[in-house]
Amino acid sequence: MGESLQGLKRTSMCGVLRETNIGQEFTVMGWVQRKRNLGGLIFVDLRDRTGIIQAVFGEKINEEAFKKADTVKSEYCIAIKGTLVKRQSVNNEIPTGQVELKGEYINIFSESETPPIYIKENLDAAENIRLKYRYLDLRRPDMQRIFKIRHKTAKVIRDFLDKEGFLEMETPVLTKSTPEGARDYLVPSRNYPGKFYALPQSPQLFKQLLMVSGYDRYFQIAKCFRDEDLRANRQPEFTQVDMELSFVEAEDIMSLNERLIKKVFKEIADVDVKLPIERMPYKVAMEKYGSDKPDLRFGMEINDITDEVRDMDFKVFKNAIDAGGSVRAIKVPDCATMGRKQIDKLVEFVKDYGAKGLVWIQNREDGIKSSISKFLKQETIDKIFTKIKAEVGDLILIAADKNKVVFQSLGALRVHMAKETGILENNHEFRFVWITEFPLLSYNEEEGRFEAEHHPFTMPMDEDIQYLESDPGRVRAKAYDIVLNGEEMGGGSIRIHDTKLQEKMFEVLGFTEESAWERFGFLLQAFKFGPPPHGGLAYGFDRMVMFLAGTDNIKDVIAFPKNQNAFCPLTEAPNVVDDIQLKELSIEVKEKDK
Ligand code: AMO
Repeated sequence: MGESLQGLKRTSMCGVLRETNIGQEFTVMGWVQRKRNLGGLIFVDLRDRTGIIQAVFGEKINEEAFKKADTVKSEYCIAIKGTLVKRQSVNNEIPTGQVELKGEYINIFSESETPPIYIKENLDAAENIRLKYRYLDLRRPDMQRIFKIRHKTAKVIRDFLDKEGFLEMETPVLTKSTPEGARDYLVPSRNYPGKFYALPQSPQLFKQLLMVSGYDRYFQIAKCFRDEDLRANRQPEFTQVDMELSFVEAEDIMSLNERLIKKVFKEIADVDVKLPIERMPYKVAMEKYGSDKPDLRFGMEINDITDEVRDMDFKVFKNAIDAGGSVRAIKVPDCATMGRKQIDKLVEFVKDYGAKGLVWIQNREDGIKSSISKFLKQETIDKIFTKIKAEVGDLILIAADKNKVVFQSLGALRVHMAKETGILENNHEFRFVWITEFPLLSYNEEEGRFEAEHHPFTMPMDEDIQYLESDPGRVRAKAYDIVLNGEEMGGGSIRIHDTKLQEKMFEVLGFTEESAWERFGFLLQAFKFGPPPHGGLAYGFDRMVMFLAGTDNIKDVIAFPKNQNAFCPLTEAPNVVDDIQLKELSIEVKEKDK
């Protein structure tokens, strides 16, 4: 049976004891990292979240403690009381390596089975085992380091926003569908059979209501829920640092957030972010990098070579150009001798992004090699090479299609080639960029209608409002994303506060007045009572912590995450519920779906 504290008080954490403490008596509490019995002496390494301290037990120091120390095993939870002494064999690997506790008393709070995963740094264990035994995984020092960073980051943000006059306020989790465009998680209502709450995809509409209520500057570290396909940087349940401000323009929000970013990255990661952060219109980002979240740590920009190849007698290029598309290229340095098999893999790679193929030209020391040699005249090669400033050693990769497909595939290929060629190895840069002037609407070809790119309350740019009805695709939004090293870390916009403009916007989006009121009636109603000009932004807090902690897996920064299939191996959620619960909710599960 485990012993209780029996009046014992912890007087120090394990990892903080140093030579200056020698001669003093301490009581430490934690978990046994390891025990070694060297005959007359037993060494116990005790770990808590501050680090490890070695304790030594000997028959001559204290016989009872010595005997008890011999019974402990890895991960037993114990207390050790003893005097701090200079260590015989110094260990320079750990901060407490100069000292050790002469163990005079030991208390065993609880025993432990042999843990299914090692409690050590850089563990290489299967993810589902780590998640199933997450509480053990979280004992590991590298995980504990991350959660200290997460805590400190939230604190720096809170303190900063508090000083800037923001109020932290909570918004409901049981609510109505919010317009962020993903699938909702639904919660059935017992009181209203057949009706459902939706978990919020973001606090978007509530923060706008708070502006109507005059709170002026709101923020929240908020849980958001989105039922979408998961990736390395997405979880079904994630956290936003969400904010909204009244009486501001986009510039005000961006400059305030630049100061926030500077402070957070300096205090947490000792990174100096130069202000102002670069701004890049969406159109430029797409044309140069094929992405609205460009990674600016390396070049390999996309070049438009449509004019240079226009006269070629090559069907793939001709068809693309005739259909209103384009021909564009990236050049990959030092890859001109890449083998056919590897190039074939690149062709397969771009097919995932909708491209039908990829044309390549190798600018080799021994001449030009290309997948389309028979169509390529020297004159065309010269024109292309001049345009893209090709050098010997370059592998030139060309896509021809609708612009959207060309951007998507070359944008992805550019990042893929950076990874393949190791350009980013040992690169410790933090390249921020604001992407601005997003299109307000995007055309959904399947449904034959325009959709809001951000959400239906985003304000169009003043000079583009005139095209809202005549040429909706041309209208740019007062929206901005903050992108870091090719990842979208946050985004926001100025909102529409004018009822007439909002009505027009709904019209363009194909909402009838009725359907708009059905979905967003409470906001539209509120906007009848003096809404202020307002706008805001939300960071993916988990993504921010990923950067600060130096991990590329979002699960590392969430204490209890779901796996790639939105399943929790620890609790085994989602799971079946009692028939009684279902009955109360007026829900019946079809036999075949069970
Ligand atoms: P948005 O939908 O762009 O904007 O979300 C803001 C930020 O949240 C992060 N994010 C995610 N992180 C982890 N897992 C996910 N599934 C996930 N989805 C999004 C991203 C993203 O930039 N209400 C607006 C903000 C506003 O307009 O003020 C919103 O939610 O880092």
